[in-house]
Amino acid sequence: MKGFYLYLGVLAAVFLIFQFIPSYEKVNPPVDKSKEIKAPTKVMDILKRSCYDCHSYETRWPWYADVAPMKWIVRRDVVQGRKALNFSIWQDYDEEKREKLKKSIYRSVNLAMPLPQYLWLNPEAKLSEEDKKIIKNWASDGKGYIKIDIR
Ligand code: HEC
Repeated sequence: MKGFYLYLGVLAAVFLIFQFIPSYEKVNPPVDKSKEIKAPTKVMDILKRSCYDCHSYETRWPWYADVAPMKWIVRRDVVQGRKALNFSIWQDYDEEKREKLKKSIYRSVNLAMPLPQYLWLNPEAKLSEEDKKIIKNWASDGKGYIKIDIR
């Protein structure tokens, strides 16, 4: 029994030390609505539900974004997600970048996005077949299918 308590104590100590390891800041910079993406309501609803937590400045931070080790993953995903694609500053992107991102969005909804570690704790964010169709239709301007360039 003594060994067990020692083990618990070590675990608790490690957990405590984890909390002092610095990680990314948890910030939601102010949103200028004029810079936000403009898309049909149906598309916006899906983006807001399933993508905005990592791809906008309007992240709904969960409680575990304050608890290591989970916070390392959550905060990193948000920082990297915003860097790759940020719907809050979409209007600042030039035409070329928007087109590129839309192609990328078209492809991402098939499999990669939202990230699996996010879906695990946010099952409501999972895209239905109908959601995917709506996003793909919007991302390809109604053309439906985008030829994937081979580079
Ligand atoms: C849990 C956080 C998270 C969620 C939720 C999420 N993403 Fe991402 N997404 C990321 C991260 C992190 C990256 C960057 C990956 C990298 O750089 O390797 C990324 C990258 C992307 C990219 C690639 C951008 C580029 O540079 O070409 C697209 C497109 C994308 N996400 C679309 C979406 C869409 C659409 C949704 C919603 C259906 C979504 N993501 C939801 C975290 C997320």
